[in-house]
Amino acid sequence: MILAIETSCDDTCAAVLDGEGELLSNIISSQAELHDRYGGVVPEVASRQHLHLINTVIDETLSEADVALDEITLIAATEGPGLIGALLIGISTAKSLAAARKLPFVAVDHMLGHIAANFLLDDPVEPPFLCLVASGGHTLIAAVEDRSRYEVLGQSLDDAAGEAFDKGARMLGLPYPGGAELDRLAITGDPERFDFPVSMSGSDSLDFSYSGLKTSLVYKARDMGPEEVRRCRADLAASYQDAICAQLVSKSKKAIEQTGYSKLAVGGGVAANSVLRRQMNDLAEELGVRLFVPPIELCTDNAAMIASAARYLEEVPYPEYLDFDAFARK
Ligand code: KG4
Ligand code: ZN
Repeated sequence: MILAIETSCDDTCAAVLDGEGELLSNIISSQAELHDRYGGVVPEVASRQHLHLINTVIDETLSEADVALDEITLIAATEGPGLIGALLIGISTAKSLAAARKLPFVAVDHMLGHIAANFLLDDPVEPPFLCLVASGGHTLIAAVEDRSRYEVLGQSLDDAAGEAFDKGARMLGLPYPGGAELDRLAITGDPERFDFPVSMSGSDSLDFSYSGLKTSLVYKARDMGPEEVRRCRADLAASYQDAICAQLVSKSKKAIEQTGYSKLAVGGGVAANSVLRRQMNDLAEELGVRLFVPPIELCTDNAAMIASAARYLEEVPYPEYLDFDAFARK
């Protein structure tokens, strides 16, 4: 019986997963409203809010799972990458709980967690497979040969796809976090109205780049002026979103073609995007590969995916984990 904690950014999350891999509870307390007025996550505010919420979120997840703390046999927490202060709240809480009960502990890489969301599906993905992980801080394509590890085949050289969504949304006057808002606004827009560059599309590299796209939106908005931007907001959102997704899809296609994997999975907050989900479906059909897509609540940050990853990692017995630390980046 695993209790997992995830606090790498601005969601305070705890989940309980049983020995058969069945998810008993998955509590996510979003701080989005708190950060909205600043237009993005303020790390110090996030840390303090995690500290404020963490015990309540753990109590809630145990109670929803109808499991007593005494029944928990393994504690897991995200160790990184993420906001260091935020991570420290989660990992310190998890280590304290584990140490007080002399339970084993597992520290989980956040990106492996996003991949492991695909092990929670009714029909879970079995390695080997490729996984596109696109979140607010990272964009990468991983080869997964074994449930406990992944190899990065390509990654963003500058901004992450989620960052491109969030910054674009902010330029269009949408509230934070912008990705989901932009997704909603784009539904009524014309994705072919504006041309945005799709970086790196000509090369065989599996790396991504999003800073040029963001800059091109800045220039377009400047040339159009605020009144016209407001009038064309939905078309701008749809065209910009299409350019973000085009790169994710084309690199996934290249990765499948270069590696010959027959299964493709997705993960991370951007995998909640409606256009990306549809286009990845089309891609899988075109290439004749099987596609695995977690439900939206398992794409954005959650502790269920951390518990899922922990099932396949080596448990560290008490007290060997007491000096485990969080890390902001690898
Ligand atoms: O994985 P995640 O929840 O947190 C990180 O690990 O960063 O990803 C958050 C990112 C944010 O940039 C957010 O705007 C984006 O995922 N996101 C979306 C959607 N839902 C969340 N981006 C596009 N469309 C969405 N529906
Ligand atoms: Zn994440």
